Order: sequence, then structure tokens, then C-alpha cells
Amino acid sequence: MDSGQFLVLLGFCGLVVLQAELLTGGQEDVRVLLQQLMARVDRLERDRGRSQVAFSASLTSTSQWTHQGPFENVSPLVFREVKTNIGNAYDPDTGVFTTPTNGLYYIRFTGSIGKSGSLNAAVLKNGENMFAIYNTVGRISSNANGMTLVLNEGDRVWVVLWPNQSISDKSGLSTFSGFLIFPM
Ligand SMILES: *[C@@H]1O[C@H](CO)[C@@H](O)[C@H](O)[C@H]1NC(C)=O
Repeated sequence: MDSGQFLVLLGFCGLVVLQAELLTGGQEDVRVLLQQLMARVDRLERDRGRSQVAFSASLTSTSQWTHQGPFENVSPLVFREVKTNIGNAYDPDTGVFTTPTNGLYYIRFTGSIGKSGSLNAAVLKNGENMFAIYNTVGRISSNANGMTLVLNEGDRVWVVLWPNQSISDKSGLSTFSGFLIFPM
């Protein structure tokens, strides 16, 4: 082997080593990129799961009139008949909707007047009045109100009946609903 051939061989070996380094280096980059992508997909899937939030429930679903109140004290209303509960953020045992993610929500409450002849009830967030309905018995004895609310993860939203007021239901006249419009 002359020096010329040796240099060519050396050059070839160098190229092979360089290529191998580039290749393994590239594989490392691809591995890191894949890990980052997988983490991002996991995050997106989790966010997507948490961004599917909607609930609707009524006090009763039967065709029998059911009445609640009048009570002496402020009483939480428990809408036990769940129609929709995507994300399971509404608890039909307590009547409380617990926000699973920060976002803009639409919350709505409709109530039909019960035995006391007047219905005054409010939607509370963490105990603070957000909005209310008030009506006394007349030709129209049902009221509804709804609002978009910016809620934080873990906020609790429920409906209360004020003292001496009453509510009734029959086939879903009195309902509590909410859904996430978009996460924020
Ligand atoms: C509820 O009604 C009772 C009896 O009429 C009355 O004594 C009481 O003050 C009322 N409570 C409220 C908060 O209006």
C-alpha cells in the first residue's frame, strides 16, 4: 500500500466514522423529538378529555308533581335526574358542579314554582351569588336564567332555594345545566 492509497483508506474510514456519528446523533435527536411529541400528544389528549364537559339534570323525571320547600333555611337543590354528564363533573348526590378545568362556561337554571307560591333561587359559585330567578305564581309559573361564567378549575357551582321559597317539578320542568364553551 503506497501513501496515496493509505490516505484514501484513511479518508474513507474517516467518512465512515463521521457518517456513523451523524447517524447516531441523528437518532438521538429523533428520539428526543419523539419523546417531546409523545408528551405533547399526552397533554393534548388529557386537555381534550378535560375540555369535554357538559351536564344537565332535573329535579325529577317522573310525571308526578314533586315539591321541595318551603324551608326555613337556605337549601341546596339537588337535581338527581341526570340527563347528560360528560366528564362527570356534576355530582347528582350533592347537586354541585365542580369545574374540571379553567374556562368559559355557560350555566343555566330553570325552575317551576312550588307550594309556597313564590320561587326565588340562585346559582352560587363557591357560595357567592352568580345569578337568580324570582317569580310568584301566576299564568306563567316558571323562570329561567343563564350566564356565561369564567370559572377556574375546582370552582363549585350549585343552586340554592332561598328561605320560604319552593320549587316543583314534573317531567323535567326544573333543570340545572352547564357546559364548557372553551378552555382558557
Ligand atoms: C319565613 O316565613 C316565616 C313564617 O311566615 C317568617 O317568620 C320568617 O321571617 C320568614 N323568613 C324569611 C327569611 O323571610
